This record gives sequence, C-alpha cells and structure tokens, in this order.
Amino acid sequence: MSDRYIDFANSSFGHRLVGALGLPSPVRLERWQAGRLRPIEGALLIGGGPLAERISTLASRLTDGIYSYGTEPSMATAWIPGHGPKLKAVVFDASDLQHTDQLKQLREFFQPLMKNLEHSAHLLILGRAPETLRDPFAASAQRALEGFSRSLAKELRSGATLQLIYVGDGAEDQLEGPLRFFLSPKSAFVSGQVIRLSACATQVSDWTRPLAGRKALVTGAARGIGASIAETLARDGAEVILLDVPPAKSDLEALAARLGGRAITLDICADDAATQLIEQLPDGLDILVHNAGITRDKTLANMTPEFWDAVLAVNLNAPQVLTKALLDSGTLRDNARVILLASISGIAGNRGQTNYAASKAGLIGLAQAWAPTLLDRGISINAVAPGFIETQMTAHIPFGLREAGRRMSSLGQGGLPQDVAEAVAWLAQPGSGAFTGQALRVCGQSVLGA
Ligand SMILES: NC(=O)c1ccc[n+]([C@@H]2O[C@H](COP(=O)([O-])OP(=O)(O)OC[C@H]3O[C@@H](n4cnc5c(N)ncnc54)[C@H](O)[C@@H]3O)[C@@H](O)[C@H]2O)c1
Repeated sequence: MSDRYIDFANSSFGHRLVGALGLPSPVRLERWQAGRLRPIEGALLIGGGPLAERISTLASRLTDGIYSYGTEPSMATAWIPGHGPKLKAVVFDASDLQHTDQLKQLREFFQPLMKNLEHSAHLLILGRAPETLRDPFAASAQRALEGFSRSLAKELRSGATLQLIYVGDGAEDQLEGPLRFFLSPKSAFVSGQVIRLSACATQVSDWTRPLAGRKALVTGAARGIGASIAETLARDGAEVILLDVPPAKSDLEALAARLGGRAITLDICADDAATQLIEQLPDGLDILVHNAGITRDKTLANMTPEFWDAVLAVNLNAPQVLTKALLDSGTLRDNARVILLASISGIAGNRGQTNYAASKAGLIGLAQAWAPTLLDRGISINAVAPGFIETQMTAHIPFGLREAGRRMSSLGQGGLPQDVAEAVAWLAQPGSGAFTGQALRVCGQSVLGA
C-alpha cells in the first residue's frame, strides 16, 4: 500500500503546510538500486581513535571521496568545516574513550557535521562493548555512547541514519561487511541500533556476489517480505529455495522461476514438515530464513484458543522444530546462517497481539539462547525485528493505527520489504558470523520498545 502522506509532504504546497503545522515531514529514502556497485556515492568522513586508520585503508573500496577530520588517516584528505564537501557517510572511532572527560570528543567531532550532511547520509560510531571492560569508568564511557548515538539518531533529518557498533576482540579485521551495509542505502530503514561484533572465521570473497555458492531456504516466500528476501538473496548470488503453503503455489512457482530457484509447497506446521524438508534438501543448506508468519489479533479477553494456537504454531513452534531437525540431520552445514523474522511487537508489546508478541519475543529468546551453542560450528542465529513495513499484512491494519505505526519513528514512515530483505542478506553473508544471538531492528528507529 502506498504512503500518500509522503507524496503530499514532499509536494511544494504540502512541504510548506507540514512545516507550518509542525507535522512529521518524512523524506523519500534513498535505497539500493540494481546495478549499483559502490556502497557510498559521495564523501566519507573518518575520525576518532585507532580504528580510523584501519578503516581508511579499506575505504577506497567503498568510495572515491575519503576525508578525515580531527585525525590524519594516511589515505584521507583533511575535511574543513564549511569548506569540505557535504557528507554521505561518517565513521567515528570512539573505541578508545575511557573517561567522562573524553566524551566531549563526540560533541567536538559531530557538531560541525550536523549541517553538512547529504540526503540519506549514514553515520557510524565504533566502540568497545562495556561488559568486556574491567575498568568501571571505561565501561561507563563506552555505555555512554549508546545514549549519545540513540539520541543523535533522533536529531538527524533528511533520511539520515546512525548506528553504534561495539567491535569485539578479533572483529577489527572484519569491518568491511558491516560498513558496506550500514554506510550504504541497504540500511535505509535501520537507525539508532546498537550492534555487537565478534571474530568470525569465514569471509566474503566477492563483494559483487557475496552469497555465491550458498544455498538458501526462505519460508513464506510467495509474497511480501519473504518474496523480497528471496529476490535479494538471489541478487547476491545465492541459490534460492522458496517455500510457502500449497494455496500460494502459482505465485511461488512464478517467483522461483524468475529467480532461477526452486519452489517447495509445504505447510511448515505439517506433522511431516521436517522430514519432507530434509528429503528435499539432500545437498544441505547454508542459509535458513524463517520468514513465514501470521497474525490473529484480539485482545486477550476475546482471544480464542484457535487464534492463540495458530500464531504460536506458525511463528514460533515451526521455526524451533524445523531448525532443530535441520541441525540434527546435518542438513544445515557448518558456517550456516539462521535468520528468524521477529517483530518490534515482540520487543515493545502491542495491544491485541499477546499471541503474536509472545511468538516474536520467543524467537528473539531462541536466537539468544541457541547462538552460544552453535559457535563451535561457525553457525550464527539472529532475529530481525521489523517495525512497520508496507505489506499486505499491514494494509489490513485500521487507518488510524496504520498512520500511527508509520509516523512514530525517527524516519516518520513505514519501511519497504526491501529494507528487511537487505538486513537479512547482510546477516546471511559468510562474514556475518561476527554477529550472532542478537536482534537487529529494521524499524526506522520506531519509538515502540526503543
Ligand atoms: N509487515 C510488517 O510490517 C511486519 C512487521 C514485523 C514483522 N513482520 C514479520 O515478517 C514476516 C513476513 O511478513 P509479511 O508482512 O510479508 O507477511 P505476509 O502475510 O504478506 O506473508 C507471509 C507469508 O507466509 C506464508 N505462510 C503463512 N503460514 C505459513 C505456513 N504455515 N507454512 C508456510 N508458509 C506460510 C503466507 O502464505 C505468506 O506468503 C512475518 O513473519 C511477519 O510476522 C512483518
């Protein structure tokens, strides 16, 4: 469903009216277009501590325009406030901040940039996870980055985003994948997130096809977010297997044919679903995306057992049972990537969605609990928690709630299926084993559960 308010707010009359009345003024976000090669089309500014130099050495693969401010990374041109170009991407390494006094570096670095950002600019702050630091003052300084970055993300305008990445020991050499995602339009609808990276043994070898040679299964792939995930994984070089219920067969087969993939019609709640899947995947699987999901909304007072059971069965029980069976049978190969489609309802709760929110929170808990046990096989498991995404599922929400869902975020609009798909495609990469047991929100920094 198209968002007519964005069209209105971006017309010349609408822009003036929205400004005069102080209404939300969402901009059209820049998104990744087919055929694009460079993650950053514009100036990248690098500053801060010891990781800045390391980033400047890989930055030439991201953009032609590399600038530094406050430090002198060897491969960068000095950026002068008021004279340097407008910035499309910014990375500030705050990993060496250890005292309250040093936090002023954040203000000193970012303040001059605020009026020099291009449309849909992407900003990153790098730090060290506070829980890994012994010195309480250093841990406190690093934790302060979280409050700073989430607040600054809310102050950004014109579709700009900002995230904080805590870089763990051994993860310093693996920043290219996260930078390619978080500094490019692939992360257009991700903002205000805190991400933890650890070491990972596997790497992407060809950035034009980061999923080449990988086999991916996407459930609920006939339409909406699942269809977009299948398309994006195929774009990135994966061999895709699309699964959906038998009534969706014709749409599923048409999409599978277009993507050069294979279709499996199967109800993931069927008693023999695990056996059928194992039989149909004799060569194993590298990427498993549990996207199929349903809503059956009612307040708890009116919740029927059927509504409760159906949502828990599809959204939570089936991903648990199928993942375990695919792991136990060896179908899921070493270094596999498992991605569970959760929801911000599972983080914030939502009136009328006790069943749905329980199922989605359960998926986040599943990723957190399972991840440490899969580390020795190099397998990662994560949840992706979308906010309001424009699909058939959200088109059925009553108008008032739909508008609230769209506007109650820093970006002031709903996301597109492509936004969720890009996040899934990043997590599916070989190098993304550095990110596991976490929930990545794709919600435009929704105020819900933030
Ligand atoms: N749209 C949003 O705003 C939003 C927000 C947060 C989370 N999500 C989650 O993202 C996922 C995709 O959402 P969507 O909006 O594209 O939904 P959708 O309803 O458009 O598509 C879901 C797909 O899952 C399939 N499916 C349902 N039950 C199945 C079963 N038992 N076996 C196999 N396939 C089954 C459906 O046939 C459908 O093709 C869901 O898990 C949803 O909960 C969506």
